[in-house]
Amino acid sequence: MIILTNLKAYPSGVFENAETLVQVHIDAQKEVVKLKKNINFAVAINSLDIQNICKKFANTIDIYAQHCDNASFGSSTGKILPEMLVKMGVKGVILNHSENRFSSENNYEELITTINFAKKAGLTVVCCAETPEEGKFIAENSNADFIAVEPPELIGGDISVSTSRPELISESVEEIGSRKVLIGAGIKTGSDVRIALEKGAVGVLLASGIAKSDTPKSVLLDLAS
Ligand code: G3P
Repeated sequence: MIILTNLKAYPSGVFENAETLVQVHIDAQKEVVKLKKNINFAVAINSLDIQNICKKFANTIDIYAQHCDNASFGSSTGKILPEMLVKMGVKGVILNHSENRFSSENNYEELITTINFAKKAGLTVVCCAETPEEGKFIAENSNADFIAVEPPELIGGDISVSTSRPELISESVEEIGSRKVLIGAGIKTGSDVRIALEKGAVGVLLASGIAKSDTPKSVLLDLAS
């Protein structure tokens, strides 16, 4: 099971605070390993911090980028290169997050090309989708490893997708397939995770539950419980 925390650009998750929160994930991971639970914590880091974080932590915990582009070495001004991420030790990338979407007017060409390019570079790709149908389309047309289904209206809120729309998780698993679905939006508790797993997801993607918490380690341990 994967618990992927996206630190976005929360003040608690950038610069030296990113280091602190990554260390919290490492500490939580150690405790979970002791309990012999098959749970993998991972942290998605802002592009401006990721090289620093990788130098310090990439050997200890899976680090994800929050975005990358379909761009190679050379004339790629301002782009985030998958090959550079891999060289830094980044494990994977989140693409098409609803706060940073590729697709406009149902044109998925650039997204699909970028997913496949990132995969080819060696990154694990978690591609976000706003609906099970969109997730199905992406899964059928790309090599994405995971599809993270997140209803945008619940992102950053207090009501989780697990409690308010459990049927959406089952629908996503039906449409996309059982080994590929992560679920996100409002996930904060062990009960949210349990519902997601019961409905067939293989993990969760979350942000504010950790980034806005005063006790992030306890939250992680509760999620893993
Ligand atoms: O990337 C994770 C995300 O969009 C969900 O955010 O704050 O609802 O856990 P949050």
